[in-house]
Amino acid sequence: MEIAFTKADKLKDHPEDSALGFGTCFTDYMFNMDYSPEKGWHNARIEPYGPIQMDPSTMVLHYGQSIFEGLKAYKTKSGTIQLFRPNDNLQRLNRSGRMLCMPELDQKMVLKALKELVKIEKDWIPSEPGTSLYIRPTIIATDPYVGLRSSHTYRFFIILSPVGAYYPEGFDPVKIWVTTDHVRAVRGGVGTAKTAGNYAASLFATELAHKEGYTQVLWLDGVELKYIEEVGSMNIFFMIGDELVTPELNRSILAGVTRDSVIQLAKSWGMKVVERKISIDEIYEAHDNGTLKEVFGSGTAAVISPVGMIKFKGREISIADGEVGPVAAKLFNELMAIQYGSSEDPFGWTVPVI
Ligand code: COI
Repeated sequence: MEIAFTKADKLKDHPEDSALGFGTCFTDYMFNMDYSPEKGWHNARIEPYGPIQMDPSTMVLHYGQSIFEGLKAYKTKSGTIQLFRPNDNLQRLNRSGRMLCMPELDQKMVLKALKELVKIEKDWIPSEPGTSLYIRPTIIATDPYVGLRSSHTYRFFIILSPVGAYYPEGFDPVKIWVTTDHVRAVRGGVGTAKTAGNYAASLFATELAHKEGYTQVLWLDGVELKYIEEVGSMNIFFMIGDELVTPELNRSILAGVTRDSVIQLAKSWGMKVVERKISIDEIYEAHDNGTLKEVFGSGTAAVISPVGMIKFKGREISIADGEVGPVAAKLFNELMAIQYGSSEDPFGWTVPVI
């Protein structure tokens, strides 16, 4: 499929790398493509970043039929640009799409479009350590209709944002809050899809967590409110004794690409990694008997985020004395080294753009 290009009249000023936070600044161009049952995916185009005009009855605004992904492009020391595991993200986008009754994308075509967009915007990619270009591919339902059904038409777009650390804490440990009053998703629902509704469902409890001075919510399973699932914007890992333990993919949590990278990296170092059910009570017991060594989250935006404090049913526990643990630090350094091209990539995770 040909990709049309429309040049912007005026380009924006770039922010300083050192001033970058997360998700507030967007580049000059975006990729757009439309879907209709008659034409399939069509009208692929790179054009100036700008508002999407839509009818107030557009289905995505009413029923939340939307999916998205998050991945990153990195500038290496030698000036080349590479993507981290883009095919895994695009595969998951199609998996989410199937769950939300959306038409599949041609993965190869989308990767080509993504590379073309990143190439055009290469000067937006920051180079300070810890910074990157965050990529947000999104599909939304575009039928102007307020009856409840899946849409017949869709818009796929990709926007780009130069970013620094996701959390204001940077790589300092965050505090997480466990709730038994709210759930994020249940098995059989859409918890494994990267869809807007899962994030909307997390907002109320997250506000409560913020009021209590916590950064994020650690979700428990939606049936027994006993087993650990994930944190709002990342998967979660526990170092218990000499085992790295993470909740199994139980059909309600997101199968994180960074989660999988952590598992593969840790196994390659000879560590024992276990994916299984973990109850919150077990974590408190491990803390009390001294075997809980570290807790950290993993995600594209968050990368590796150490957890320094957990609060559950009014009891707060401190992890690794609120310091960054050695496993989280090693994973963070090694992942970043692969992503920025300063270390060999024996896993074949990086994909060159230029
Ligand atoms: C990501 O890590 O890329 C995500 O999509 C999480 C989002 C809440 C920022």
